[in-house]
Amino acid sequence: MTGKTFTILGIETSCDETAAAVVRGFPPGPGQILSNVVFSQTEAHAPYGGVVPEIASRAHLEIVDGVIEQALADACVTLGELDGIAATAGPGLIGGVMVGLTTAKGLALACAKPLVAVNHLMGHALTARLTHGVAFPFLLLLVSGGHCQLLGVGGIDDFRLYGSTIDDAVGEAFDKAAKILGLPYPGGPALEAAARGGNPRAIDLPRPLVTGHNARPGADFSFSGLKTALRLQAQQQRLDVADASASFQAAVIDILTDRTRAAMAMFRADFPDVDMPVLVVAGGVAANQAIGAALNGLAAREGFAVRIPPPRLCTDNAAMIAWAGLEMLAQGEGESALRISPRARWPLAGKAPVGI
Ligand code: KG4
Ligand code: ZN
Repeated sequence: MTGKTFTILGIETSCDETAAAVVRGFPPGPGQILSNVVFSQTEAHAPYGGVVPEIASRAHLEIVDGVIEQALADACVTLGELDGIAATAGPGLIGGVMVGLTTAKGLALACAKPLVAVNHLMGHALTARLTHGVAFPFLLLLVSGGHCQLLGVGGIDDFRLYGSTIDDAVGEAFDKAAKILGLPYPGGPALEAAARGGNPRAIDLPRPLVTGHNARPGADFSFSGLKTALRLQAQQQRLDVADASASFQAAVIDILTDRTRAAMAMFRADFPDVDMPVLVVAGGVAANQAIGAALNGLAAREGFAVRIPPPRLCTDNAAMIAWAGLEMLAQGEGESALRISPRARWPLAGKAPVGI
């Protein structure tokens, strides 16, 4: 280790947050967040009950320059003082990704800095190194609006997939359940709040793949049957929103803890020399306190430590993109800005082809 720190500007535009941040540090972290500007487009999408891609890209285009300016000003850092620029290059809504990545290319070329194309999922995955300096390897539960995966992370180029959803992502399931219950958008936080006053055993809901007719061992997830069961119940009777929210959240918790327990065994088999294994929970759903508490309980029973970044770093932000870019740059992975293209699909485990 050289002891040199890197100062990186990160830009994130892959969904409905326009974000820029400046982060300083060196792997394995923790790093210093000098600024973290997140402009959420929630209000623009709220009337539609979900993110509208065309509205998202236009909104990114309108404000991305100002958000970057604000991040540099908050950090008291000039473009010339940066060691590099990191932008989300995918996966995500391609129009939004193009806005952030093209802006980053322009900046990188204008100030002759290396540009790092960051996988949004890697941003979520490495956040616990930014916040807690978690060493490789660790077990990762990545739970967001678009993804639900369990991975062994041996390094920035070593992601081993233990399980993933076979249908909906868990955040998507929260959002759809919230819509069924008439809760406001975005649904995850609203459903968690509603669940606080409810009885988690009030409504009988399935745990797909974990129990019942399609039960199977392993670390894969399924949420679409759970959502459908809730919809059917809501059509048959007038549901108490608090009870229904609590029952839905309890089912999600049972699914997540069961699958994570299976992945813990896979992680131990993959990395038998790790004395004190760590479970990192990342992505927007990691902001859910009830899920966090359940995973803490599971980890205590299974001999794992748990690291969950604070909520504002669990949901989409650019500090995580800056940090992932920093880790890649520290490993010599800065690229020529002109050769990078956006990718709508870009799985973490296994190299994906370049291109849309
Ligand atoms: O990581 P993220 O900000 O964006 C994606 O990359 O998808 O995750 C957003 C998702 C949304 O589905 C949102 O409803 C969910 O995370 N979410 C939550 C909570 N906060 C955000 N789900 C459950 N409980 C929460 N407190
Ligand atoms: Zn995300």
